Amino acid sequence: MSDLLVLVCILSVFLFQCVLSSFSPVDNLLFNCGGTKTLKLDDGRSFEPDLGHLSPNSGIVVSDNETGVLDLYRTARIFKETSNYSISLKQIGRHWLRLHFYPVKNEEYNLTSSVFSVVVNGIPLFHEFCFEKLVNGQSSVLKEYVISVSYSGSKQFILMLSPASNSVAFVNAIEVISVPQGQFPSAAIPTVPLGTDFEVSTNKALETVYRINMGGPLLTPKNDALWRTWEPDQKFLINPAAARNVSVGDPSVIKYPPGVSVEIAPNQVYATAQVMGNADVVQQKFNISWAFEVEHSFNYLVRLHFCDIVSKSLNNLVFNVYINNQTAMSPFDISSKTNELAAAYFVDFVASVSSTSDRLLVQVGPPDMTNLPTTNAILNGLEIMKFSNSVSSLDGFYHTDDNGLKRSKNKKTVVLTIVCSLVVSALLLGIAIALQLYFRHPKKPKHKQVSWLPLPTHVGNSDTKVSIGSYASTSPSHGLGRTLAFSEIREATKNFDESLVLGVGGFGKVYRGVLDNGVVVAVKRGNPQSQQGLVEFRTEIEMLSKLRHRHLVSLIGYCEELNEMILVYEYMAGGPLRKHLYGSGVPPLTWEQRLEICIGAAKGLHYLHTGASESIIHRDVKTTNILLDENLTAKVADFGLSKFGPTLDQTHVSTAVKGSFGYLDPEYFRRQQLTEKSDVYSFGVVLMEVLCARPAINPSLPREQVNIAEWAMHWQKRGHLEHIIDPHVRGSVTLDSLRKFGETAEKCLADYGVERPTMGDVLWNLEYALQLQEASTQSVADESSTNYIPDIPDCITRIENGNYNAEDIVSDHESDAVRSEVFSQLMDPGGR
Ligand SMILES: *[C@@H]1O[C@H](CO)[C@@H](O)[C@H](O)[C@H]1NC(C)=O
Ligand SMILES: *[C@@H]1O[C@H](CO)[C@@H](O)[C@H](O)[C@H]1NC(C)=O
Ligand SMILES: *[C@@H]1O[C@H](CO)[C@@H](O)[C@H](O)[C@H]1NC(C)=O
Ligand SMILES: *[C@@H]1O[C@H](CO)[C@@H](O)[C@H](O)[C@H]1NC(C)=O
Ligand SMILES: *[C@@H]1O[C@H](CO)[C@@H](O)[C@H](O)[C@H]1NC(C)=O
Ligand SMILES: *[C@@H]1O[C@H](CO)[C@@H](O)[C@H](O)[C@H]1NC(C)=O
Repeated sequence: MSDLLVLVCILSVFLFQCVLSSFSPVDNLLFNCGGTKTLKLDDGRSFEPDLGHLSPNSGIVVSDNETGVLDLYRTARIFKETSNYSISLKQIGRHWLRLHFYPVKNEEYNLTSSVFSVVVNGIPLFHEFCFEKLVNGQSSVLKEYVISVSYSGSKQFILMLSPASNSVAFVNAIEVISVPQGQFPSAAIPTVPLGTDFEVSTNKALETVYRINMGGPLLTPKNDALWRTWEPDQKFLINPAAARNVSVGDPSVIKYPPGVSVEIAPNQVYATAQVMGNADVVQQKFNISWAFEVEHSFNYLVRLHFCDIVSKSLNNLVFNVYINNQTAMSPFDISSKTNELAAAYFVDFVASVSSTSDRLLVQVGPPDMTNLPTTNAILNGLEIMKFSNSVSSLDGFYHTDDNGLKRSKNKKTVVLTIVCSLVVSALLLGIAIALQLYFRHPKKPKHKQVSWLPLPTHVGNSDTKVSIGSYASTSPSHGLGRTLAFSEIREATKNFDESLVLGVGGFGKVYRGVLDNGVVVAVKRGNPQSQQGLVEFRTEIEMLSKLRHRHLVSLIGYCEELNEMILVYEYMAGGPLRKHLYGSGVPPLTWEQRLEICIGAAKGLHYLHTGASESIIHRDVKTTNILLDENLTAKVADFGLSKFGPTLDQTHVSTAVKGSFGYLDPEYFRRQQLTEKSDVYSFGVVLMEVLCARPAINPSLPREQVNIAEWAMHWQKRGHLEHIIDPHVRGSVTLDSLRKFGETAEKCLADYGVERPTMGDVLWNLEYALQLQEASTQSVADESSTNYIPDIPDCITRIENGNYNAEDIVSDHESDAVRSEVFSQLMDPGGR
């Protein structure tokens, strides 16, 4: 069942009779949105101002002359409400539609966080796109589609841009270009290997997902007769050592036989390729494999470009081609198609990516023949294009009606999907009945709905995509941890028994649970009402699935059934660090233990900041988000508020301000800018909390002492931090260690992010503080205690031991709620 794959060989190149070159598109409409005059690009094309094509309103123009940005991306047109571009065409038939998005910096609108949808002639292209959701941190996005205009409709594109509520839509440039005849197949195609025809009707829309130049460089629009972009393949190779790039020095030697032309692909694509790693070895036994992340539950047109630029004679290059582990061509002898060397050839297949998969695998490798002198395989270029689905959508099951985009009921979907969902439903029903019989549940089990709708998670034209579907427990895990059935979780937590509540956070309650395999877990159950929470839930799954580290709390599984948002984590027996510092009666930690814990947490944060391909900012570092296991190993928890950190093109990440009062970076507060250094600040607060064993904010204290950061800095600046440290460790901390620790915390708490150290520096300094402590502990036996902090007068001790526990008496939940309430009042200008 895992191989829900339809492979259809859909065309023979000899059907096409293209002339060699000189295609000049009838429609070639290029718009520089928001521009006031014609803009000429270095690829020779001129983009006109777009104003004449708008109805009913013309939106707002923003511009920015930021250096290093394409001229086309200096202006954008912004729409606060649904607006249409009407673009009249001279010709019916297929057209390329390219949309350029770049969040132009401007005073008023934050385009990085804007959320919007685009529909063209009733076909949803994408739903709720947002730059912030891009996993690869691209600074600009080019989306390319192929949309057909039919005889019956009017000859125009109506491009409808709809902002999400309280957001804006925007666009920087629009290209509409006629597609040459024969560029795409347009008939019912005999299928291989399943044997059912795949109907490629012209009203199917296509979206270019990947366009790759194997073994070659990036090709920009000026290298391509139809202004396409081809990207290199290196990052898609599963085992780069299996491949070796080859090229011919002069691309003009490439021959275009009848049926192939530069409109199919430029000669630079055919002039480079990947071949097998050791082409000279007789009988190589491996495949070259490329993996592409794609959205599940769609059919994809897979176009393979071949050209034998390595053989010295004909019939020397014979190999197999596989798509999604299924044989597409076996054996394939290029010469049998081209009858000459260095001649271009391409072939199309349709691959269906089932709801249980999110990648498309393309492989070339040795044939099953043994009588060949040498073994080699080649691939020169590859295009992967998504076909619109049964509801004419290119993004999940959305359709348009009078009120905009709606989720379809998804009635008439791919037959296989229905069959599959029936099987799964039957299975689930069976399980449910079995469970009911077994446990004699008094209540009827709720009917399990298996949702097949992909969530709208967007990524640009040609890059990776994280798609999180809704899976029943029988589905494979997609590397996102185990998917758990709601019933399993209910069992594990004794139907969410209140006595098992470990704590309550902004996201929802956390329960202790025991899975049926005996594993003890922490079950975090989101509040389904909050939309905000839903976003964070998905963020958290996306983040956690990519992160594995000894000092990060790991995700075991999750459940998204029945509108529930549940995350299952490893259980941390020691609970939050805060519990070990004050207010709970747990025996106090030694200074060494505290240092070890801070070092562990710093390692976790350092990994977040530097370990993943994109920097990740935790955004809510505090002592309740640092958890301890039974051996007091510290692990950083709660990435629900995290966002990807800045990339090279952005100086900061813009999001709604979140975090906990008392830990919040003052710079973030003033300038609404978020960097890794905001986490460093919060960690500085944690260090002071660990040292003084008191809450970050304690409103019951005298004014100057309320905020630990201010109070501790007051003493640190005077060089007398020892006056406020936790009496439990005062006698054992060495002055050197304390000095190092104090300096480190002080640097973390610097007013400006640039002055603060990185987590790596913090880590190094804490390790040094531990060494200083250990060094003097070892030599203490034969020395006087002068190295230790001298006893200090009673009056100061009284402050720490004073009646400040008001906040500790309330549970974490309540104090968090108090904090966030105070916080939202501070942050919301209308809040008080
Ligand atoms: C950008 O425009 C502003 C005024 O809009 C001008 O003061 C500034 O010099 C310009 N910068 C560049 C690099 O052109
Ligand atoms: C945009 O075009 C669609 C489809 O033609 C139409 O239904 C809608 O009313 C138009 N909206 C505006 C604001 O003109
Ligand atoms: C081809 O391979 C060489 C060596 O492996 C590498 O340095 C070069 O960047 C590759 N060229 C392309 C275009 O990928
Ligand atoms: C292809 O086969 C490999 C190895 O057997 C497996 O890991 C992978 O999941 C398969 N991919 C698909 C799409 O079936
Ligand atoms: C190449 O991949 C196909 C499909 O995944 C697999 O069946 C075949 O065994 C592989 N060949 C080699 C030599 O590994
Ligand atoms: C976008 O908004 C966020 C807060 O929502 C803010 O931090 C950020 O500075 C803004 N970005 C720009 C480019 O104005």
